[in-house]
Amino acid sequence: MPSLQELATQLQEKNIALIAHYYTDPLVQDLAKLSQGCVGDSLEMARFGHDHPAQTLMVAGVKFMAETAKILSPDKTVYLLDQDATCSLDIHCPSDAFAAFKAQHPDRVVVVYANTSAAVKAQADWVITSSIALDVVRHLHNQGKKILWAPDKYLGHWIQSQTQADMVIWDGACVVHEEFKAKELAALQAQHPEALTLVHPESPADVIALADIVGSTTQLIKAASTHPATLCIVATDQHILHAMRQAAPHKQFIAAPTAGHSGSCKSCAFCPWMGLNTIEKVQALLQQPSTTAIEVPTPVRTKAFQALKKMLDFAQ
Ligand code: 13P
Ligand code: SF4
Repeated sequence: MPSLQELATQLQEKNIALIAHYYTDPLVQDLAKLSQGCVGDSLEMARFGHDHPAQTLMVAGVKFMAETAKILSPDKTVYLLDQDATCSLDIHCPSDAFAAFKAQHPDRVVVVYANTSAAVKAQADWVITSSIALDVVRHLHNQGKKILWAPDKYLGHWIQSQTQADMVIWDGACVVHEEFKAKELAALQAQHPEALTLVHPESPADVIALADIVGSTTQLIKAASTHPATLCIVATDQHILHAMRQAAPHKQFIAAPTAGHSGSCKSCAFCPWMGLNTIEKVQALLQQPSTTAIEVPTPVRTKAFQALKKMLDFAQ
């Protein structure tokens, strides 16, 4: 196996930008940084792929992230490290069922979470990520707009509670964040009253209610490093702890408890699809580029582009 430095050199020599999410293997995150690629939340990944001059983007994440990169940069070649890397939110929001849901609410602005297929994004007025969802919905609500929201019900209900917007919400959830448990989290907080609790908004409402900070992965990492607390309880995929420890090496981090587990469980709070992204797959793709680069049919891409571009422009 070549060293990280050797892989980074190969990526740079081939003019490939490696764009990784914080839920991927720590080695993949380190390689993305070392090769001058990007480690980020969904919004940062989308923006980086769009703005970067490299002709080839290698996405270490899940399918919706690679599709987003392709929609925003149709002339670039986009690879996903593992073609089977998907997302429970995407799986449970099929485009035909979503079209029927939308048809029932023709008077609503359609706001779709980035964790969806290109075909669902193509039906949206706005695509948003967790880092910007609150601001976009507040903006629409202030304009008197009623909203149709899909697919994450927990994120949707949290935004509704923060904005008082009129929202009809699809019944979807993330299999990883849905596992965090409020009763056990409250008990952990009681043991560590000095700890700062960081929660991703895909978590259930009673878990979010116990949070000091609610935000996207990048927002949680920033809070972990800037807040004076030296102990943090973290309710999101545990691979994020790698970036948190890099950002705040002197601090301690504890995993928030999931169903039936104290928080020390090795397999819970790890997204199974994000976990498919390994350094071996980066090496394999570098040695023999897959013939199955991500493709999005032009009519779908053109419509989805408008809703995604609106998000990037709003987030300027
Ligand atoms: P972020 O945009 O906060 O990184 O979230 C992406 C995701 O899939 C969370 O489960
Ligand atoms: Fe999807 Fe949840 Fe995995 Fe994020 S953590 S990619 S929302 S299944």
